[in-house]
Amino acid sequence: MSTATLLLKGKEYELPVMEGSEGETAIDITSLRTKTGAVTFDPGYGNTGSCASAITFIDGEKGILRYRGYPIEELAAKATFVEICYLLIHGNMPSIPELDAFNEKLTRHSLIHEDMKKFFEGFPPSAHPMAILSAMIASLSAYYPENDNELNIIRLLSKAKTIAAFSYKKSIGQPFIYPRNDLSYTQNFMHMMFAVPAEGYKVTAAIDRALNLLLILHADHEQNCSTSTVRMVGSSGANLFASISAGICALWGPLHGGANQQVIEMLQQIRESGQSAKTFVERAKQKDSGFKLMGFGHRVYKSYDPRAKVIKKIADLVFAVTGKNPLLDIALELERIALQDDYFVTRKLYPNVDFYSGIVQRAIGIPVSLFTAIFALARTVGWIAQLNEMIGDPEYKIGRPRQLFNGATARNVMPIAKR
Ligand code: ACO
Repeated sequence: MSTATLLLKGKEYELPVMEGSEGETAIDITSLRTKTGAVTFDPGYGNTGSCASAITFIDGEKGILRYRGYPIEELAAKATFVEICYLLIHGNMPSIPELDAFNEKLTRHSLIHEDMKKFFEGFPPSAHPMAILSAMIASLSAYYPENDNELNIIRLLSKAKTIAAFSYKKSIGQPFIYPRNDLSYTQNFMHMMFAVPAEGYKVTAAIDRALNLLLILHADHEQNCSTSTVRMVGSSGANLFASISAGICALWGPLHGGANQQVIEMLQQIRESGQSAKTFVERAKQKDSGFKLMGFGHRVYKSYDPRAKVIKKIADLVFAVTGKNPLLDIALELERIALQDDYFVTRKLYPNVDFYSGIVQRAIGIPVSLFTAIFALARTVGWIAQLNEMIGDPEYKIGRPRQLFNGATARNVMPIAKR
């Protein structure tokens, strides 16, 4: 085993060095504080490996993303979202009987408890779907308190799409449409979103494929903000539904999953302003403008996000059916200008998954306010797989970082009259 030598205040310490299956190196500092009295300092965790994981591999420099060893491009070309759910949770692609059994379970558990429908009445019509989704997912723990992890995973995966679709119906004042057992996972979601009691809704093959692809691309992304949140909450022993609900809240932020909504709003703003894309690129470079190019940049990817490349291809598939969206031209123009600009080149800022996903979602009929909820729907399976991996490790501990205290040192409380 190799070691790293740390020289601290004139004294040398040996720390074990670990190597991942793709050759990444990590210095094991689990004994650091005991040995030296010191802690590491890494706000934003950019240099901290919080766990060992066998689920998703990313090489941000080379633009590589793999789930359980399979390249994202190959999964996008050959698999459905339900197969990816099976893969992430079980570690291997399913056989036909395994997939049939998994699909059957997902279909059987897609209804939500009738009483839960009353919750929707309590939300104002303007409620953001992420507020509804996180509240309703946490509420599932009230209806399914038993500790059957396997069954609860199926319930969660299946009911999340029903809740997301119901939150949309609520926002437009239409009656809820119940799931149908003869439809696939993605067809069912579209049916619950867009059918009305008087007439059904037929999902075209191209739209169904596009939705599958969007969900596949968002299914997992190793230890990002929301996944780390799920692991952190779950590490206290909180139940599955509570942990995933926390992940939904973390995903909501505009610097994370909320960026897809922000991208469309930015593109619309550019269109309505009549100003050029270049003006907005220039503004994004001014730190005091408070404006960022949403959908650009990534903590891990320092080259083109491989998911954004696949989404560009989905856009072609969808626009062949729906007709082109003018926002796509603005996005392409923004990308072209930014990728030639020294500011973006030197900082290695490329389009991320959210840059084009909103345009595709809009084209398949999904309202802007629901974009992040679709992301949450897809990521739920990644969160589940990551949480399972953590609680399956007999040595996992409650998450509890340290700090570097820089506040007041010990002092006495003065009597109030003397303060
Ligand atoms: N527009 C303009 N400048 C940017 C952008 C952007 N979108 N992103 C980063 N920068 C600049 C920063 O100002 C910083 O400049 P500096 O070195 O001169 O100070 C430099 O690039 C590095 O950026 P950081 O914010 O330090 O990088 P970090 O890894 O902390 O943040 C993040 C990554 C949050 C994604 C950031 O790039 C960003 O805010 N992007 C826009 C929001 C977005 O698209 N989020 C979705 C990410 S993908 C996902 O979560 C699914």
